[in-house]
Amino acid sequence: MNVQRTVRADKAELQRQAREEAYSTALKDFHPGAPRLFQNDTLWPWFERLRKEEPVHYCSSSPIEPYWSVTKYNDIMHVDTNHGIFSSDVSLGGILLRDVPPGYDYPSFIAMDQPRHSAQRKTVSPMFTPAHLDELAVLIRERAGKVLDGLPRNETFNFVDRVSIELTTQMLATLFDFPWEERRKLTRWSDVSTALPKSGIVESAEQRRAEMDECAAYFTKLWNERVNAEPRNDLLSMMAHSEATRHMDPDNLMGNIILLIVGGNDTTRNTMTGSVLALNENPDQYQKLRDNSALIDSMVPEVIRWQTPLAHMRRTALVDTEIGGKKIRKGDRVVMWYVSGNRDEEVIENPNDFIIDRPRPRTHLSFGFGIHRCVGMRLAELQLKIVWQEMLKRFDRIEVVGEPKRVYSSFVRGIESLPVRIPA
Ligand code: HEM
Repeated sequence: MNVQRTVRADKAELQRQAREEAYSTALKDFHPGAPRLFQNDTLWPWFERLRKEEPVHYCSSSPIEPYWSVTKYNDIMHVDTNHGIFSSDVSLGGILLRDVPPGYDYPSFIAMDQPRHSAQRKTVSPMFTPAHLDELAVLIRERAGKVLDGLPRNETFNFVDRVSIELTTQMLATLFDFPWEERRKLTRWSDVSTALPKSGIVESAEQRRAEMDECAAYFTKLWNERVNAEPRNDLLSMMAHSEATRHMDPDNLMGNIILLIVGGNDTTRNTMTGSVLALNENPDQYQKLRDNSALIDSMVPEVIRWQTPLAHMRRTALVDTEIGGKKIRKGDRVVMWYVSGNRDEEVIENPNDFIIDRPRPRTHLSFGFGIHRCVGMRLAELQLKIVWQEMLKRFDRIEVVGEPKRVYSSFVRGIESLPVRIPA
């Protein structure tokens, strides 16, 4: 008990210091994309101050190339829905704050502009139709049940590894019809694909390259099998048999595969973990949920807003333009901070509160908007809904018994480990 109180006091002190630092630093020195702010969860006062004082902000004093930060909900919508002005194209730098470094530049449709983007997106979208999701739901539920039934009681374990990673990896293996026993390779490749050297995931760029080569070789083998077989209902077969994607060069194929792995894996995994954390930090909301499990329907989008598993997406200006009165020049990097827009008090009431029965829980930016809006969003929501239905059936509560360890990244807003215990 005392240990918990000390931890709470330490956390409060860390937040107090962050606030002091954010409000005493000159705006011109702000670098809101610094990964350390995300790793220790002290990003909030920095973005709060930007929204209030300089919602469209230019950073030219960071160790990386200069970039604009767009921090308010409606400005982000403006950028996201104007793909003719703001490009996602990998050749201009892609969708991350940092320009895509050599070796990370696999072309995929999330980092393409029209018309190639839509042609390639169309080939995978049948996977996510309501009818197909209804079919998948049966499998997801059955598998979730098995994983949850195997969890220990009265014993501390890492929720990320035992539940979030396992369930999202199983789901992904199903989407790709990936060899079942080797499914954890997908998790590893998802982590490695976005990892920076010395991030704790890979030590060096060479190590990352070698693991990505292994991923490419593995999927090339699967691809060749699917191209030569009858069309089936998995993502690889869909791409192998579609005119728009069957002649993709190997780099483009790799790009789309990594996109689907990261899209399906990291994001849903971190929302699942985030939901356990958010409900523990807000016990009144957890109680509400236990009293009325129908609230899962609104809790799921609320937690997707709350967690914002992808903190930003970046665009590059194709022409001189303006956002919120600021002049943006052709070629400038423009970062849409979804994580900040999701806390914009002018659009979302009490945005810093986690409220599982909000009137309009889908008012959030976590899936983006416009032509690149997340193609897997319904699947993500479905997964989360089923997991919570199955957890509520089985456990009165899942208690968080230690601190979350957060990922060192200002892109994936993730949780590496979360110690929990299920009382007997
Ligand atoms: C909570 C879970 C998820 C979140 C928060 C999320 C978030 C996002 C965001 C922010 C974008 C980009 C929007 C933009 O650039 O404007 C995106 C695109 C995408 N997501 Fe998701 N995603 C999630 C789950 C999934 C799942 C389960 C899949 C599939 C397996 C998936 C696959 C994709 C793909 C393929 C794209 C690219 C779409 C395009 O460029 O047209 N995502 N997602």
